[in-house]
Amino acid sequence: MTTKVIMDVDTGTDDAIAIMASVLSPEIDLIGITTVNGNCPVEICTENSLRVVDYIKANVPVYEGCALPLSATLTPGRKPNIPSYEPNKIHGAYLDLPEAKSSKGNINAVEYLIHSYLESDGDISLVPVGPLTNVALAIRQAPEILDKIPEIVIMGGGHHVNNCTSSAEFNIWVDPEAARIVMNCGRPIRLVTLDATHEALFTMNTCEKLRDIGTPASICAASFAEHRINAYDQIQPMESGASAPIHDALAVCSIINPDVVSTVFAHVDVETIGELTDGRTVVDIDRSGDRGRKPPNVHVALHADGDLFVDMMLDILSNKL
Ligand code: RIB
Ligand code: CA
Repeated sequence: MTTKVIMDVDTGTDDAIAIMASVLSPEIDLIGITTVNGNCPVEICTENSLRVVDYIKANVPVYEGCALPLSATLTPGRKPNIPSYEPNKIHGAYLDLPEAKSSKGNINAVEYLIHSYLESDGDISLVPVGPLTNVALAIRQAPEILDKIPEIVIMGGGHHVNNCTSSAEFNIWVDPEAARIVMNCGRPIRLVTLDATHEALFTMNTCEKLRDIGTPASICAASFAEHRINAYDQIQPMESGASAPIHDALAVCSIINPDVVSTVFAHVDVETIGELTDGRTVVDIDRSGDRGRKPPNVHVALHADGDLFVDMMLDILSNKL
């Protein structure tokens, strides 16, 4: 059974691999991509997404979204360097792919999300793998779309694992208010956290296998993954060394085969006023204590089957259009 998907991305290197997996998996019908400020300024995320779509000859529209978080940059000093014009080590700025020939859609990402869901039969999974600004704005502007969203599969957050600060994961940290709106929207949510993505790693051996497969997507993924491994070895070495998570691709794989992650149904909310914990996903795992108890609202993926993930990605990226 094919799942219709709209991806909301901040295309950097793992978003790029996730987009290729969505396009090339026979289990997914990627009907649209929306871009948001995150790994790089939104206009670069848009160009990068168009480069990926053109490179694998996919016919998927790309719509540009928000350049800034809802409110996080209004407090002086709260979100320094957002948007980030400094190319970061893991993503760089423009992806090393030919300049895009196709153009972005002529409406804003938020309008596209609202229109797509209102016109839909309620069968399009929403897969945000960047900051949640576009998604939160769409929900606020047109709450009637919620009944039309069957599930939201988010790459973001962390329980024991974080990356942006000692308390928070990047996608949530960039726009905590947006994340809080989405976590509390009442729709089925699967949150694929860093705890899971750090158990689903590409190694240099994975990259060799991808190069041996030799399709445009597998060679491109190998190149981006090698770049990620070198960067992670410098800034956030994995325990096993010489490896890197491909965060966003795990979220996509969890749609194709839910067994690739293991989840707990728990209450999740997002810190928006903490000085030290701004953007933290607060996961009430064991429902300890009895103050302010809230019912579970999110299926939180805290573990992954790393071998299954790699096998799935090798298989998917061996496809071409
Ligand atoms: O923290 C990892 C997430 O932040 C990934 O989605 C990566 O692409 C960045 O957006
Ligand atoms: Ca991303």
